[in-house]
Amino acid sequence: MRGTVSYVARRWRQSLQLRVVTTTMLLGLFVVSLLGGVLHEQIASGLENDRVNAAEYESLNLTSQAQNRWDNSTSTSVDDLDQAAQEIMSRILAEPGPQPSRYVVMNRSEGNDSDIVLANLTSGALDIESVSPELRAAVAASPDRQQTQMTEVTLGGETLPAVVVGSVVEVPNAGAYDLYFIYPMEQEVATMGLIGSSFVIAGIILTLLVGAVAWVVTRQVVKPVRRAGEVAQRLSAGKLNERMPTRGEDDLALLATSFNGMADSLQSQIRQLEGLSAVQQRFVSDVSHELRTPLTTIRMAVDLIHESREDFEPTVGRSAELLAGELDRFEDLLSDLLEISRFDAGAAALDVDPVDLRGTIAKVVEAARPLAERRGSTVTVHAPEEPAEAEVDERRVERIMRNLLVNAIEHGEGRPVDIYVEVGDDAVAVVVEDHGVGLRPGEAANVFTRFWRADPARARTTGGTGLGLSISLEDARLHNGWLQAWGERGVGSRFRLTLPQRAGDTLHGSPLPLSPSEDP
Ligand SMILES: Nc1ncnc2c1ncn2[C@@H]1O[C@H](COP(=O)(O)OP(=O)(O)O)[C@@H](O)[C@H]1O
Ligand SMILES: [Mg+2]
Repeated sequence: MRGTVSYVARRWRQSLQLRVVTTTMLLGLFVVSLLGGVLHEQIASGLENDRVNAAEYESLNLTSQAQNRWDNSTSTSVDDLDQAAQEIMSRILAEPGPQPSRYVVMNRSEGNDSDIVLANLTSGALDIESVSPELRAAVAASPDRQQTQMTEVTLGGETLPAVVVGSVVEVPNAGAYDLYFIYPMEQEVATMGLIGSSFVIAGIILTLLVGAVAWVVTRQVVKPVRRAGEVAQRLSAGKLNERMPTRGEDDLALLATSFNGMADSLQSQIRQLEGLSAVQQRFVSDVSHELRTPLTTIRMAVDLIHESREDFEPTVGRSAELLAGELDRFEDLLSDLLEISRFDAGAAALDVDPVDLRGTIAKVVEAARPLAERRGSTVTVHAPEEPAEAEVDERRVERIMRNLLVNAIEHGEGRPVDIYVEVGDDAVAVVVEDHGVGLRPGEAANVFTRFWRADPARARTTGGTGLGLSISLEDARLHNGWLQAWGERGVGSRFRLTLPQRAGDTLHGSPLPLSPSEDP
């Protein structure tokens, strides 16, 4: 039950067509019932008026015929008079046939004080009970006028509306007698019943028709709109060649044409941007390549000068040392740039093998020992007993670890650096933690931006290029891994690398916490 309700509610919200058809049908039903009601009412009152007029005319006629008969009558005794009354009733007033359309009641008037009392007569199933006291009073009040009233009578167990017309005849010797003509409206009721059911059927058909028309019309409008929605979805999913079919010259064709125009201009702009960035990438990569050849020459020359710096004057010797240092930086920068342009070109390939990360970390720590000694930091590795194995590209993971460790030592202010390794259900995590300068709020997201440095002036002493972490992030992403940073000013920083154990898997969590206060 609830399922059905929610299904209908969902359909209602999603389908414009359903809403339009339903509201149109409801409105149609409302208008049709209103119109039908008014028409029914008018026909009923017209029929009733006709009936009343006919009844008044007929009873006037019959009354005067009966009066005439009495006027010509010579009867004087009660028996003769009763005989005459019965004859008048059957010959003039009562209708022949088993199903009469009128019933006649003759009743002694209220004010009649004659000694001769005639029997009250009825022509059929209805008697004086069917005549309301008000009508009788009205007839008594003005005997020379005809009185009409609409009432209800019960005939054969059925209650029917009826017209009752009352008037007075003067019976010789016996005084005034009321004559009531009762006309039950059987025929009219049957006719109205027929008209009513025809109206209901016509109303239902009309409402269904209106609904069908609304359905066809909205379908014509909704279909292209739905199609436009689908095409827009596919466009935003990157299928830039999707277009809407255009047919005809109407508003919907205009919609399709403008939509396609929009898609065209979007596509050409995206192409243009793609072209531009391809040109930029090529430029960076070309320049880096072109610089390599002269750089090897310079390298040889600088090495030569550097080796014989003892032979120069002290100032020149110092310059030779600086020159060698800057050249190292330049070579690092160049190789980082080449690496970045390889990522940008999508040319970076993953070369996975099962690797025990504890070995990789040991190698990196060993290589960074001279730097750590110079800075006065001790590096401690907290690794589990069992192998921390994962399917990774060892060259890339080594580069990430080297970047993180060198950063930690360089920004660690000579304080201890810790490396934690943990194996989870389907992931391996490494956290490199230092207790140095740390990161200001918001910097944790910036550190992975190309060429971003918290303190550009420090670059001279640390020798970094500002590309290390952005390359590391690309390396981690290539593994479907995460590289995240946490830091607090003056407290230290934590960098967490999480890698899926099986190459290509998606990560759902990390076995190690990113910040020291948090659960993994
Ligand atoms: N362990 C850390 N502690 C504090 N800041 C750091 C740390 N690691 C990186 N950073 C900040 O992030 C910046 C970018 O790092 P990176 O991409 O490795 O470039 P580089 O080391 O060449 O400056 C650094 O200049 C530094 O400001
Ligand atoms: Mg660095």
